[in-house]
Amino acid sequence: MTSNFISFVHKDRIVKIKNPDINETLLNYIRTKLKKTGTKEGCAEGGCGACTVVLGELKNNEINYRAINSCITLLPTLQGKQLILVEDLISKDGSLHPVQEAMVNYHGSQCGFCTPGFVMALFSMFKKYSKYNNDIIKDSIAGNLCRCTGYQPIIKAAKSLKNKNKIDHFTNNINNTIKFLKKINNKSIAIYKKEKRYFAPIYVQELKKILKKNINADFLSGGTDLSLNITKERKDINSIIYMNSVRELNYIKNNNKYIEVGSATPLIDLEYYIKKYYPDFTKILKRYGSPQIRNVGTVAGNIATASPIGDCLPLLISLNAQVILQDFKKTKILFLDNFFISYRKTKLKKGQFIQSIRIPLFEKNIFKAYKVSKRFDDDISSVCAAFNLEIIKNKIEVIRIAYGGMAAIPKRAKFCEKILLNSFINDEIIHKAKEALEKDFKPINDMRASGSYRMEVAKNLLEKCCVEIKQKKLIGLYA
Ligand SMILES: Cc1cc2nc3c(=O)[nH]c(=O)nc-3n(C[C@H](O)[C@H](O)[C@H](O)COP(=O)(O)OP(=O)(O)OC[C@H]3O[C@@H](n4cnc5c(N)ncnc54)[C@H](O)[C@@H]3O)c2cc1C
Ligand code: FES
Ligand code: FES
Repeated sequence: MTSNFISFVHKDRIVKIKNPDINETLLNYIRTKLKKTGTKEGCAEGGCGACTVVLGELKNNEINYRAINSCITLLPTLQGKQLILVEDLISKDGSLHPVQEAMVNYHGSQCGFCTPGFVMALFSMFKKYSKYNNDIIKDSIAGNLCRCTGYQPIIKAAKSLKNKNKIDHFTNNINNTIKFLKKINNKSIAIYKKEKRYFAPIYVQELKKILKKNINADFLSGGTDLSLNITKERKDINSIIYMNSVRELNYIKNNNKYIEVGSATPLIDLEYYIKKYYPDFTKILKRYGSPQIRNVGTVAGNIATASPIGDCLPLLISLNAQVILQDFKKTKILFLDNFFISYRKTKLKKGQFIQSIRIPLFEKNIFKAYKVSKRFDDDISSVCAAFNLEIIKNKIEVIRIAYGGMAAIPKRAKFCEKILLNSFINDEIIHKAKEALEKDFKPINDMRASGSYRMEVAKNLLEKCCVEIKQKKLIGLYA
């Protein structure tokens, strides 16, 4: 069933909006139409967390609660979800939610501008986890900035939640909410409003039909890149195909040879899944934006954006990942290594979309990845490096090294690889390999780092990788 109105659940009822403005942000709708001003606007680019709200989505008959940045979320993408605002946390009898109570008790607020965002980030943590250790707490608020309270009182408030009753009014009302969500969530959307159009298909076949007639439409996945055209560049996007509504594209499969990640799979799901196979991949994803960004952003979006500092890209290139492209007729498989042409240009053609990404699983490899950025959390890389090696009898038999932030595209360090291939790791080889990086890259100066700093960091990360391999006697494991 296709519809020209969106439906979502808010405050125990289904809300319908006919022909919504396809470029309106959720934050704007909340503040100006719903007249709920608890949710704040700080940066309007996903970087401060002041606008955090929580979305509930039906998954296997349960509700999955995810914190998101409403400032970069487009209103129509609310279709089929539950919207929870800071005002909604208060019970009907006026009592505060345990998260709000904790923030009061531990003095977690001063000017209060950031507070609703922190409350919602912690609310999402409260709903998602049964225990909250330091890592979980810090990760949960990594996307929220506070300029006056300092983080300690907020962290203490979060820690105190472990003693609270987990049953809140959302739990008490869960059957009702699930009933509502089931009623509305199986609907494709097609909105035509003046010259603008927005499509949110549920099935790939539908997607292909839409694509055939709307070949110039922009694909929207998490919107953590595309929506900034609206909020920061003040541009309109006239034709949008929302990819994250296509359920068949939200999956992670594993056939023991490779992991296949559907293009509509949020980064956060990959972060949990891939840890068992490539712990360093998870380590990098944990520092990718914030939970609000990873809850909606996708690897496909990261690849299509083709930023030279896209964090997944050097990791995927070093793992020799493939990208599976589809148009309305054909499927094409390309190695990611050959996918990037020049600055922000890829081999993706008009009418083609990324269906999925295949990440090979090697029998005996060592995979290491490092990210260097100005801030630890919620910051994009100055340099990101990934090393994928196979070492047999102490000799490097296979090696793929890729860097981000060192050229106009994420790129392999082929001269460096050549030095290391068929070598034993020792000081002399490390020195030569570091020198070879100067042949591989001529990094530029920009606001994130100078070219010379980038080169220094790239060399040091290579050395760090080699030293760690030697120290941990990883070589011995494969000898
Ligand atoms: C606050 C903040 C922090 C960030 N931190 C990081 C970080 O640490 N590391 C990092 O690498 N990036 C970071 N980013 C950038 C951004 O998150 C990534 O580029 C992200 O991966 C984009 O994915 P998305 O799903 O949100 O894509 P979208 O914004 O929806 O789309 C991005 C581009 O990809 C295209 N596209 C999307 N899906 C498909 C598809 N299936 N097929 C073809 N084309 C498609 C879109 O048309 C668009 O051109 C950050 C962004 C913000 C706002
Ligand atoms: S307003 Fe700063 S993240 Fe949305
Ligand atoms: S309390 Fe003022 S910014 Fe956090």
